[in-house]
Amino acid sequence: MPLPRSILVVGSGGREHTLVRTLLASPARPRVVCAPGNAGIAQDAPCFPVAVEDVAGLVALAQRERVEFVVVGPEIPLSLGLADRLIAAGIPVYGPRADGARLEASKTFTKRLLLKYKIPTAAAGFFTEVAPALDYLHTRPLPIVIKADGLAAGKGVIVAQTRAEAEAAVRDMLAGNKFGAAGSQILIEDCLFGEETSILVVVSGRDYVILPTSQDHKRIGDGDTGPNTGGMGTYSPAEVVTPALLDRIDREIVRPSVAAIAAEGIAFCGTLFIGIMLTAAGPSVIEYNTRFGDPETQVVLPRLATDLLALLWAATCGELAGMKLAVKPVHALCVVIAARGYPDVYPKGDAITFPPELPPGVTVYHAGTARNAADRIVTNGGRVLGVTALAATLPGAAAAAYAACDAIQCSSKYFRRDIGARQLNRR
Ligand code: AMP
Ligand code: GLY
Repeated sequence: MPLPRSILVVGSGGREHTLVRTLLASPARPRVVCAPGNAGIAQDAPCFPVAVEDVAGLVALAQRERVEFVVVGPEIPLSLGLADRLIAAGIPVYGPRADGARLEASKTFTKRLLLKYKIPTAAAGFFTEVAPALDYLHTRPLPIVIKADGLAAGKGVIVAQTRAEAEAAVRDMLAGNKFGAAGSQILIEDCLFGEETSILVVVSGRDYVILPTSQDHKRIGDGDTGPNTGGMGTYSPAEVVTPALLDRIDREIVRPSVAAIAAEGIAFCGTLFIGIMLTAAGPSVIEYNTRFGDPETQVVLPRLATDLLALLWAATCGELAGMKLAVKPVHALCVVIAARGYPDVYPKGDAITFPPELPPGVTVYHAGTARNAADRIVTNGGRVLGVTALAATLPGAAAAAYAACDAIQCSSKYFRRDIGARQLNRR
């Protein structure tokens, strides 16, 4: 199938800004539009104010703009059936239908699938009532992980260090309605120990291509301290995943996962993002997401030498088999600039001043930004910018990214100082 000439990217974060930039760089020179976008995306592509939850509005926009292809960033529209509705309207879409999006939207659904197909993952119990959950809790070692079943914007996972903390989490979710319907079912899962890695896989039915490896930094504070966030920084490649280990991850996790999903009758087209813990006993699945990672995308896509549009289009057309990826031999590192206070309460509307010139190899992807009445770019979310640097070495990429972070001015600016430290210290 010839490549599409016009594309709608759905979403408004750093991931979507990276998708828009990378698709615009395709040799096919497509027209790219975005909904709803942000102030940075709007500098690159027309943006339309349609919310990611507004499935009917997004389908109507795709029709009105006569786009030939839709690429969906976040999980919410996928779980609401955006892909189903676009396909019904005859518009090709990269991103799974609601049945595939359940692999992210329901942790119990995924855990059952992992156990059924004997894919390595932590042992777990499933509960809807407090009393049996507490009984089970007392049979397991500490720390222990309590997970709300549904989507909870990354906040539905508690790694409890004490019994009291674990019991409180169980009660909050099952009796206290802390996460609403998302928490009416929970998983109690054994804790895995090791380093995490994000494996992003472009999937088209039974065919798949593994994208370059990366590692996220989920906690808000340096040294992996404080509460979990959406992700405070990334780097790629994650050298902890040696070629031999990647081969093992492919054999023991990726291939069986793709086969299991197909065997369950799900025709999956989109990104399967596998969160993996590298334990002493081997790689183990923490979770599936059914979309690109944020901020993994900000380091993975800039390293692709293969045309992203050709790759995603091949997946959508069922032509992925035999596709080989070309990857640039560079290191990428992304530092997320957040608004101080994130992931709890943080200000919005603070003006951002960008330096006239960025260090070589640096790209700033916008996430939570907007334009105010005075036409200034201001903060408009918890994670504000993703500052990505490409360089021949990881220390080089870190130096360039941090030089740019220091040069960007904003009164509520906060970022971690130790992105990439694990790999930098290992050398
Ligand atoms: P999730 O929302 O599933 O991405 O989980 C958020 C984070 O919680 C993960 O990135 C891990 O750092 C941590 N986590 C989840 N499950 C486990 C587990 N079984 N053992 C240890 N850490 C976990
Ligand atoms: N960075 C983790 C995620 O996208 O879920």
